[in-house]
Amino acid sequence: MIRELKKVDDHISLFEMKSNALEVLVTNFGGTIIRLLMPDKNGQKGDVVLGYDSIAEYQTKDAYLGALVGRTANRTRKGTFSLNGKTYTLPLNDGPNSLHGGVHGFSQKVFDAKIQGDSLVLTYLSPDGEEGYPGNLRLTATSTLTGGTLTLRYQATTDQDTLINITNHSYFNLSGGQEDICNHTLQVHSDTYACIDANGLPTGEFRDTQGTPFDFHTPARIGDVLARQDEQLTLGRGVDHPFLFNRAEDQVVLCHPASGRRLTISSTLPGTQVYTGNQLDGRIGKYGIAYPKHFGICLETQNLPDAIHLEQDPSTILKKGDVYDETTSYTFEVVQS
Ligand code: BGC
Repeated sequence: MIRELKKVDDHISLFEMKSNALEVLVTNFGGTIIRLLMPDKNGQKGDVVLGYDSIAEYQTKDAYLGALVGRTANRTRKGTFSLNGKTYTLPLNDGPNSLHGGVHGFSQKVFDAKIQGDSLVLTYLSPDGEEGYPGNLRLTATSTLTGGTLTLRYQATTDQDTLINITNHSYFNLSGGQEDICNHTLQVHSDTYACIDANGLPTGEFRDTQGTPFDFHTPARIGDVLARQDEQLTLGRGVDHPFLFNRAEDQVVLCHPASGRRLTISSTLPGTQVYTGNQLDGRIGKYGIAYPKHFGICLETQNLPDAIHLEQDPSTILKKGDVYDETTSYTFEVVQS
């Protein structure tokens, strides 16, 4: 079941999706997931994503809570790139680099919204030159809730070659905000992670995860990982790294054993940024709960960040006439242990 729950103003609305397992609140401001309610093993409902009480806070605060980010998620080196022999300049909004599509990226845009069957369909036409990117880019973001699975599909076309790398930036906390993420376990089916520099930008060096703190082949307790001594963990102030998947589905599993809540992520994309909320600063979120460091974890499925500078045939280029079409599903379950 899906319905428009409330109009915030003439342009922004809140949409509610409900199934027997989940209740999801989404807005067409930034395609943001505001609330995600699910039961724990005792049937107690909890909200498993971080967020704010008002749209105004989403408009003014900077952590991308729950947002759709683009045109390109993560960092572009020095906010510049060349495509077809032309150089483009993006706003520098993260030290020397451009982050998450610039100052007014997709997380700050009002999308057109319509309910189509069981789905919420958000569309946005990003004009040529917006935040420095070439081409009129037409983006459709479709959210569908089926049982315990929320599916997010992103489709885009352009009238000039451009870059695209869309993700959802939800901060998950399966305890329902009862504690930070240290007691969660994380499994990521990945043999390779990308090293970053002190600004969080991938350096171009890739390492084997095996035997490192970035080895999530079997579920690892996040608090134990964050306590490890490792130069890459120090540079990221925790985990804030791209991982390349070694399989095509069910690549990420996040669990909170005490509540029995489990999230399984399955994506058509080749990797994910894992970000352990290292920059969270104690800000107050929904329900008056403070969000200190490591209070949420982002599992941002995407192509390789800054692929334009790192890959031979960059996966983030969208050519005129081609279609970008990627889907990530998030399955929430309760496991009795
Ligand atoms: C990045 C972090 C950044 C955060 C902003 C994440 O996707 O990897 O480095 O601080 O977004 O909220």
